[in-house]
Amino acid sequence: MKKLLLVLALSCATATVLSGREADSFACLIPRPAQITSAKGVFKVKGAHINYDTSLDARTLRCVSLFADRLYLATQRISSLATATGVQASTPIEKLHGIYLLADASLAPEAYRMEITPKAVKITAAQHNGFFYALQTLSQLLPPSLEDGKTAPGEKWTLPCCTIVDSPRFGWRGLLLDCCRHFFSVQEVKKVLDAMARYKLNRLHWHLTEDQGWRIEIKRFPLLTEVGAYRAGTQVGLDRNHDDGIRYGGYYTQEQIREIVAYAWERGITVMPEIDLPGHMVAALASYPQYGCTGGPYEVRKIWGISKEVLCPGKEETFAFLEGVLDEVVELFPSEYIHIGGDECPKDAWKNCPHCQARIAALGLKDDAKASKEARLQNYVTARIQRYLAGKGRKVIGWDEILEGELGEGTAVMYWRESRDYVGRQVKEAAGKGTDIVMTPNLHCYFDYAQHPDMSREPLRGGNRVLTLDTVYSFEPSEGYSEAEARSIIGVQANMWTEMVASESHLEYMLFPRLLAMSEVQWSPKGSRDPERFYGALRSRHLPLLQALGYNYRKLDQ
Ligand code: ACM
Ligand code: ZN
Repeated sequence: MKKLLLVLALSCATATVLSGREADSFACLIPRPAQITSAKGVFKVKGAHINYDTSLDARTLRCVSLFADRLYLATQRISSLATATGVQASTPIEKLHGIYLLADASLAPEAYRMEITPKAVKITAAQHNGFFYALQTLSQLLPPSLEDGKTAPGEKWTLPCCTIVDSPRFGWRGLLLDCCRHFFSVQEVKKVLDAMARYKLNRLHWHLTEDQGWRIEIKRFPLLTEVGAYRAGTQVGLDRNHDDGIRYGGYYTQEQIREIVAYAWERGITVMPEIDLPGHMVAALASYPQYGCTGGPYEVRKIWGISKEVLCPGKEETFAFLEGVLDEVVELFPSEYIHIGGDECPKDAWKNCPHCQARIAALGLKDDAKASKEARLQNYVTARIQRYLAGKGRKVIGWDEILEGELGEGTAVMYWRESRDYVGRQVKEAAGKGTDIVMTPNLHCYFDYAQHPDMSREPLRGGNRVLTLDTVYSFEPSEGYSEAEARSIIGVQANMWTEMVASESHLEYMLFPRLLAMSEVQWSPKGSRDPERFYGALRSRHLPLLQALGYNYRKLDQ
């Protein structure tokens, strides 16, 4: 550790020592860190230097430099009494009033440690995400003008002395964004990523293919976007018999996808694509009808709900198609996991399809007490795609329907059908056998549900389900699981489905502040949630900050 990155020219008002109220200074932190030990005194940001370990990688240095720029700009605005102090790179650390970022390989990949004394802020982490999260925490301890640029009178540019030892409860802290039912611009996806990063989420589950629209450019199959990205109308409200007749659609070019993946990566977020198969494929079938059981014609779906038109796994060329798509997908997304859907795949077409029945016979699949032969055929599809992706060094994850029948080795499961008891039992049993589970049970994690039981006060939504902020905040992902089973829970995720969400402001209204509640479920230690503190933090800092940053959000009820 020797190099000076930035000399801060600060002009803060004289720091005030927090006498006996230090603990209050940490109440604003969302998600709540694992461990905070407060101490007496404050660190004055005025005149501090940011110093980094020369062994830090370029991505980490970019995030440090961004933080330093913000701090410099924010503190410069305060008064014209700015003073800059230069220091020699060779100055011993102990002599320097500053913020230090030091590598410590012994810490877990996303963990960090932060020690604040009157003399120095010492941050240690092993990797980018640890440093990134430490700087998020540090930002939340400073005036919000650091982030929103809106200086307020009485800002205190001091940090309370403490030691914070922090690491996430779950390695997978996800948000699903459905860009198929409605399409969101690159700019909006980035805005969502910014919010995810601020609250320490690390997985964007990007739902890119659907009955109602195919949104990812695949160069080998250009009709997927020429035809499949557009529908001739959109269901009007809740009326499944009417659409508006207005052409609707859009897609992300491969260049835009690379841009989003890189933007997310800078913020410690992995973008995991979902190519939903073998159901939810009508847009692909409208583009290439030969991969369906009947050969079509098919039309990109205009209404919501489940289609009986699905891919035909009886035909060998269907697999060549899927492999061609996935070849380009893995080139675009470095994600360890590829989501292959597997949900809501009716078997009607397969029952009447000579190709599918021939495949069932050739594989010797039979109906049994556990699954129908058509359900076994879906297992075959999942296992075959899983093997194909394993050959490319990727793992697969699918919706809990893939548990019907047999599960391929190493395949992870995303639990969503909380409303069905038997599914909960299946998932728990799989967890007991060591299958990795991501928890996204609908009654606690589906952000398309209304935010208040009085639905007349809420925007239009499908179904009559409610998911209040309180319910999200009180969600305990391991409830009902033994300690051994709970070890299979690798993460928790909120799902933002968008059938009824057509605009950016509506999208943000559904996300916020529920996403902040979810961030504590995902990050903070079991049993640490404290609604009074959380709501206080929302009111005093986070909701005003969302507003200042231009996000729409649902106001609190009282
Ligand atoms: C789902 O909600 N169909 C995964
Ligand atoms: Zn078929």
